[in-house]
Amino acid sequence: MTIFDKFQQLAAARKELEQSCESFFNIVMQEIVSGTEALINGRPTILAGSNNYLGLSFDPDCIDSACEAARKEGTGTTGSRMANGTFSGHVALEHELADFFNRQGAIVFSTGYVANLAMLSTLVGSGEIIMLDADCHASIYDGCRMGDAEVHRFRHNDPQDLEKRLRRLQKRNTNILVVVEGLYSMLGDRSPLAEIVAVKEKYGAYLLVDEAHSLGVLGDHGRGLAEEAGVEESVDFVVGTFSKSLGAIGGFCVSNHPELDLVRYASRPYVFTASSSPSVIASTRMALKILQVRPNLQQRLWDNAHKLYNKLQDLGFSVGPEPSPIVAVNLDEPNEAFALWSGLLEQGVYVNLVLPPATPDGNCLLRSSVSAGHTPEQMDRICNAFEAVKQATK
Ligand SMILES: Cc1ncc(COP(=O)(O)O)c(C=O)c1O
Repeated sequence: MTIFDKFQQLAAARKELEQSCESFFNIVMQEIVSGTEALINGRPTILAGSNNYLGLSFDPDCIDSACEAARKEGTGTTGSRMANGTFSGHVALEHELADFFNRQGAIVFSTGYVANLAMLSTLVGSGEIIMLDADCHASIYDGCRMGDAEVHRFRHNDPQDLEKRLRRLQKRNTNILVVVEGLYSMLGDRSPLAEIVAVKEKYGAYLLVDEAHSLGVLGDHGRGLAEEAGVEESVDFVVGTFSKSLGAIGGFCVSNHPELDLVRYASRPYVFTASSSPSVIASTRMALKILQVRPNLQQRLWDNAHKLYNKLQDLGFSVGPEPSPIVAVNLDEPNEAFALWSGLLEQGVYVNLVLPPATPDGNCLLRSSVSAGHTPEQMDRICNAFEAVKQATK
């Protein structure tokens, strides 16, 4: 018996998948041409699976800020936020995030994943309860597993189911944190946030919204779904990431609860990892500024989102429940999913192929995501590629 025996089932599944679609396991971005294009298998390919919603990963001002910070402050902090890893840029970014969200406080974490690990494992403890939308991201589930709270799931986007469960738990007289996302990462659907807020207020619970996919995407100022739904005051904690609309890597939580700051001292994912490098913090700060002064980016993103969603719907694909920059095609059959995915790649379009158990309903998903950086010509090429693969698999 070896330590790897437990992976045998996985190895067999991988082998089977490789036979259906060899290239699935060998995707390397050989050369990055721009925020929306790369060389894959030697072929120029449009990137329609990144979360680069505002196209800022190649913004010249963000790149200049990153280079300047690296020259001035080095390539890494080589330390935890709690020790030598808090530079003035980290503190400035926390102030800027708090101002942007009109909140009293903010904490910057090393990734969005770490932000969720930290908040969910720390905020809610033994004897307390987390109520989770069933489709929440793996980082939220992992944060729950890391902590001591009791975890209950409610049906995806179903405030009535949430209420039913809260009614049952009412007698427990303990703290309850409800957790939802702004835009859900797989199907791009919004949370019914106003209804979730009404339920959480009725039962005196706290609410955390992960706006990872909605920062810069929703709301007149780009603050996310809570802004769009007009319920920001009722959201206790907003978590988000720098790895999508802000084009970098990192995570944050903002809140009006003055005690937020104490999370730093109680949270292992904050303490026991190195802080973000100066270049990342500098480009994120610049991206946050750009997001506020260039609302046309959000408009362009949504024009592209509507274009792809409408096109795929017209072609007869089973798309997600509402138009969104995440345009997901639901497919029952893995072989059909592989055929469409590799067909798109041959046409020079990369989208994400997501397989169960990572998908909400156990189906396969072709998950495209559009960017404000996609030109009209690139959008036409993406739409035409879908049309061509649809014809070819008929
Ligand atoms: C909803 C949600 N939260 C958190 C994360 C983690 O963010 P990051 O990849 O920046 O660590 C993701 C990543 O895709 C996500 O979709």
